[in-house]
Amino acid sequence: MTQQTGLEALSTESRRFDPPTELAAAANVKAEAYERAAQDRLGFWAEQAGRLQWETPWDEVLDWQPPFAKWFVGGRLNVAVNCVDRHVDAGNGDRIALHWVGEPEDDTRDLTYTELKRQVCMTANALESLGVSAGDRVCIYLPMVPEAVISMLACARIGAAHTVVFGGFSSQALVDRITAAEAKVVITADGGYRRGAPSALKPAVDEALERCPSVTNVLVVKRTRQDVDWVEGRDLWWSDAVDSQPEEHEAQAFDAEQPLFLLYTSGSTGKPKGILHTSGGYLTQAAWTHWAVFDLKPETDVYWCTADVGWVTGHSYLTYGPLANGVTQVMYEGTPDAGGRDRWWSIIAKYGVTILYTAPTAIRTFMKWGEDLPAKHDMSSLRVLGSVGEPINPEAWMWYRRVIGGDRCPIVDTWWQTETGAIMVSPLPGVTSTKPGSAMGPLPGIAVDVVDGEGVSVGETGGGFLTLSEPWPSMLRGIWGDDERYKDTYWSRFEGQYFAGDGAKWDEDHVLWLLGRVDDVMNISGHRISTTEVESALVSHPKVAEAAVVGAADPTTGQAIVAFVTVKGDVTDDESGAEGFVTELRNHVAKEIGAIAKPRQIVLSPELPKTRSGKIMRRLLVDIAERRELGDVTTLADPTVVTQIDETMGKLASKS
Ligand code: PRX
Repeated sequence: MTQQTGLEALSTESRRFDPPTELAAAANVKAEAYERAAQDRLGFWAEQAGRLQWETPWDEVLDWQPPFAKWFVGGRLNVAVNCVDRHVDAGNGDRIALHWVGEPEDDTRDLTYTELKRQVCMTANALESLGVSAGDRVCIYLPMVPEAVISMLACARIGAAHTVVFGGFSSQALVDRITAAEAKVVITADGGYRRGAPSALKPAVDEALERCPSVTNVLVVKRTRQDVDWVEGRDLWWSDAVDSQPEEHEAQAFDAEQPLFLLYTSGSTGKPKGILHTSGGYLTQAAWTHWAVFDLKPETDVYWCTADVGWVTGHSYLTYGPLANGVTQVMYEGTPDAGGRDRWWSIIAKYGVTILYTAPTAIRTFMKWGEDLPAKHDMSSLRVLGSVGEPINPEAWMWYRRVIGGDRCPIVDTWWQTETGAIMVSPLPGVTSTKPGSAMGPLPGIAVDVVDGEGVSVGETGGGFLTLSEPWPSMLRGIWGDDERYKDTYWSRFEGQYFAGDGAKWDEDHVLWLLGRVDDVMNISGHRISTTEVESALVSHPKVAEAAVVGAADPTTGQAIVAFVTVKGDVTDDESGAEGFVTELRNHVAKEIGAIAKPRQIVLSPELPKTRSGKIMRRLLVDIAERRELGDVTTLADPTVVTQIDETMGKLASKS
């Protein structure tokens, strides 16, 4: 458990914040929900599903053939109708759905629910005219522009599954995902804005499509107006293909288990896994948790989730949850420092944001930038603050509460995963007391356990592995095309339980603390990257003989990637020398996976520390990367190797 040591110490935090009485009285969910859900879990979820609009009601709430679940069996609904049309039908068409804020200042667009519906219908018509139909897959590779949300909803409307690929991923990553999903159409843009300058996106698609025969068309959003290469017959400007379409589209209802999206995420072995989510259960839990966890009042709230649509948070809490609830939200294209390090705070003040949902890594960055920046803006509109993606250290939690939340906003630290589809563990504002740094406990209707290595529950207090002991509506339905891998990865470690891959402990008050991953998955700024993926990228370089990658604790990004590499031949002979070679390797990783996977440090070494049986001792590499005193080296085949690597790391660390 790479993060355990530090966080265990922090989890002795004893401060506790009780919900203010006023908030408790007005909260959407009351304490009795826990009891009610515990007594009749399926009844509780059926009640939440009832908040959606179904064309055909379900016959059975859950069909559970472990580990395969079907929720709301026989029910039929259209996800896009639930997210858009029904709000217009209810008379809320004039409500703003998206306050879109571009990275360049004054580049903004407001879309009402009526306008969103018009755009989604036209895009659905465009996709159908390109031959996309129910059951097909569409790849979305876009920056944070409204067309990303519109495309997702258009796919949902026609029953096609989308697979969104984060714009920071490389062309190679696109190839892997498009090929695995056999996508028919790719939706992209000429480029996006990144720290004030336009950056390109389409070239990565062009390069990828040389190797993706399943793709027949590419829809290209004009965002930056930069020149792009064009393949006649394959490429279409969004403005030509979409804007000419009829503004009405008759939506058909689909089975509750119709695939809604695939989202690729890193696991501890091999290539990223295509996590499959379906419609009825997913939308039920995304919508309910969004409403309950943020105590959402759709008529008055202005909600802002800062996640990119390329990650699951951007799916469940930027697209599906908020829109199913008909709230007004902010969507921001750029980085936190574009146009000034107080950009976020100026957006909050301008739009009167009431609920902010972001990641600890962002909070820690703002802490570094100083309190005077948020202090320049009126953020009194804020009333609930959320955190997601990685454990939040109590110091960052307290800063978030005091500096951003003016000591009055409850903080909801929400634990969940791409696989869980929606929030599983979190306090509820107005109901649950909070402890800085803790996600507190499972939501009503969710069953979690902490078990020891044998799968035996540790009981009311104690640490071990986090498991989910009952199926939940938004659970993944599998890994795309690989049922065996699904069973092996999640359901084989502990009999009858879903193994999340996280360590956790119950403290003396039976409050839950998440302690980070226990497998080979690193968490870099809230993004999942596996050590093996980065190792494979490194060894695919012709000069690399062997590579070992570890996640090292980092004060801002949570963890950082540190790679230990042995090379074939002598790279110091290269023109650019060893330093130039390290840069080349970092760029090579960016090309293979994406810039987010670039190691913070690469240590070149003649050998890696191995046991006598040839196993790389990662534990020691973590010690080295974190500049800690080295653990036991007696089992090493050659203890001098480690001393040498430690010295090199010491030099690198003192330089940075
Ligand atoms: O280790 C946990 C961490 O992020 C992992 C899931 O990553 P991903 O699928 O990319 O989804 C991130 C957004 C939901 C988990 O296995 N994680 C997520 N939220 C928290 C967290 N760890 C501690 N506290 C959290 N609130």
